Amino acid sequence: MKNRPIGIFDSGVGGLTVFSQIEKELPNENIIYFGDTLRVPYGPRPLEEVRSFVFNIIEFLKGQKVKLIVVACNTGTAAALTEAQQMFDIPIVGVIEPGARGAVMATKNRKVGVIGTKGTINSRAYSHAVRAFDAGVTVYSASCPKLVEIVEKGLVSNANFYNTSSYTVAKGYLTPILRAHIDTLILGCTHYPLLKGMLTKVCGNNIEIISSAEETAVEVRMILERKGQLRTDKSLPKPRFVSSGDTQAFKLIGSRFLGREINGVEKNILDQEMVT
Ligand code: DGL
Repeated sequence: MKNRPIGIFDSGVGGLTVFSQIEKELPNENIIYFGDTLRVPYGPRPLEEVRSFVFNIIEFLKGQKVKLIVVACNTGTAAALTEAQQMFDIPIVGVIEPGARGAVMATKNRKVGVIGTKGTINSRAYSHAVRAFDAGVTVYSASCPKLVEIVEKGLVSNANFYNTSSYTVAKGYLTPILRAHIDTLILGCTHYPLLKGMLTKVCGNNIEIISSAEETAVEVRMILERKGQLRTDKSLPKPRFVSSGDTQAFKLIGSRFLGREINGVEKNILDQEMVT
């Protein structure tokens, strides 16, 4: 069991922000990353549909004999984490609770903002998670449907995220919650850390920006430590990348994002019947 890989997945490349933190936190672990680029974006889809995708991917990763699964997608976490934890006999970690905990620990005025996809924001999963840690915190949320597209396009064309049009889009989304004088902002979508520079410009330097990636990586380490399941094999880990869509595009984006060449991306569209 100890030497089995960790499975991580997202609708696309956004979850690589979590992959990269887990790699930093646990450099000896083998990781299989699955990016569902055939079905991205998850954000605008009904949560029920996203749930079926999440179960579909978990089945796949279980078939790869992983020892723990990270749902590195907020929309997937909001749609299916509870049910997945009830259904499958393997530790499954989401990204919402770790981000909420980070925000509650950071806020001083107990006014927290959260931005995410339509699915995540409408599910109110962050409001519930934040209040479970501190019921006195007020959460101001905004769904930002265009930001995932900006990341995907920006990464593909290597465009500058600071261009005026993306800045204007982000400012439009953030202005209402900034008016509430939040002192902490949760990036409730794993694509958004790639826009952190631009979002900091919009928010100014007085707002602490929380991404779930670091907190999630710490949680994964703690679970494996407590279960005595850290990898003991000392051979160099070999991460695997699997994508349901264009593997060349994934390789390009992934390599650029991770700052190193990804050797080979496997193609797997999973169970055909589940693909829409
Ligand atoms: N990265 C996903 C998340 O964290 C969203 C991207 C999508 O809409 O598929 O919610």
